[in-house]
Amino acid sequence: MKIDVDRVRIVEVGPRDGLQNEKATIPLDVKVAFIEALADSGLRTVEAGAFVHPTWVPQMADSAEVYAKITKRAGFDYPMLVPNEKGLERAIECGVTSIAIFTAASESFNRRNINMGIDESFEVFTPVALRARDEGIRVRGYVSCACGCPYEGAIAPEKVLEVTARLMDLGCYEVSIGDTIGVGSPLQVQGLLHLLTQVIPRSRLAMHFHDTRGMAVANTLAALELGVTVFDASAGGLGGCPYAPGASGNMATEDLVYLLDSLGIEHGVDLDKLVAAASVIAPWLDHPLPGKVVQACTKGTLPWGTRSVVQ
Ligand code: HMG
Ligand code: MG
Repeated sequence: MKIDVDRVRIVEVGPRDGLQNEKATIPLDVKVAFIEALADSGLRTVEAGAFVHPTWVPQMADSAEVYAKITKRAGFDYPMLVPNEKGLERAIECGVTSIAIFTAASESFNRRNINMGIDESFEVFTPVALRARDEGIRVRGYVSCACGCPYEGAIAPEKVLEVTARLMDLGCYEVSIGDTIGVGSPLQVQGLLHLLTQVIPRSRLAMHFHDTRGMAVANTLAALELGVTVFDASAGGLGGCPYAPGASGNMATEDLVYLLDSLGIEHGVDLDKLVAAASVIAPWLDHPLPGKVVQACTKGTLPWGTRSVVQ
């Protein structure tokens, strides 16, 4: 194994991807405390919520209030997910400075997730990206189903490249390649990255692994070997997409940090404080946190379902 990466930037997606699929209602102040604790741990990019349809994703319905209440620390970035112009309007009203737009390499997944085909999503995102640029808002892109789709099965890597390149053409500063349902494996990830990096600079790619089959750490190593330096992860290993049946949590941020520490790669995050952040959200969930390192660090004692702990 040969890894030449010195430093990784972690994009914490716990407050958005981590919570969007949770059944339990999580109070506004708990979401805010979770984000503050994540930032306290040294995570400088924290995806804080989503301006998606509140009926389709009720857990994100209070994203405007969450964004209003969090401390916008200098040098920190709090991207918000935006699916269309209506979402961008809501973002602008809140004074958001950074958004993420999202489409997929699978036509069927896109239709279920955002009620649009791939081409249609670009018709919708083109004015969103232009307006965002005029407003001085940074735009990140996501490509879902990069390693496989819950509806279509295998996805051609060439399709992932095409969609990624189109997001770059819209002006995204970075595109996050999503293994939405956690079906990817290391050699597959490396094959995909070999193709993508023929066209797209490595420095503008991020990897977004869900850990459904326990492959997230292995896939991260595979991507590190090919020089990727940006990884999305979710505190406690929370996560999942309501429109991706079978998808489970993201790469746990603690697992990522532990892996990077073992490789001597800098990341700027304090593991103890990160575990403390996970313990803010744990009592509000109706299940234990799935992340391996957070379980080991707390000896499995995080008190999920005991809400009084943080009240
Ligand atoms: P639609 O129903 O097709 O929207 O939903 P529409 O444009 O036809 O409008 C219908 C109504 O919705 C209208 O209201 C609009 O105003 C309203 P009416 O006139 O009937 O009263 N509306 C909105 N309201 C609030 N906010 C908005 C908005 N847009 C329209 N932004 C839409 C289309 C995209 C909105 C919907 O399908 C949606 O919200 N989808 C989001 C699904 C989602 O959040 N999925 C999870 C995130 S993606 C993910 O997790 C993957 C990722 O992690 C990477 C990976 O893992 O691969 C990123
Ligand atoms: Mg995701």
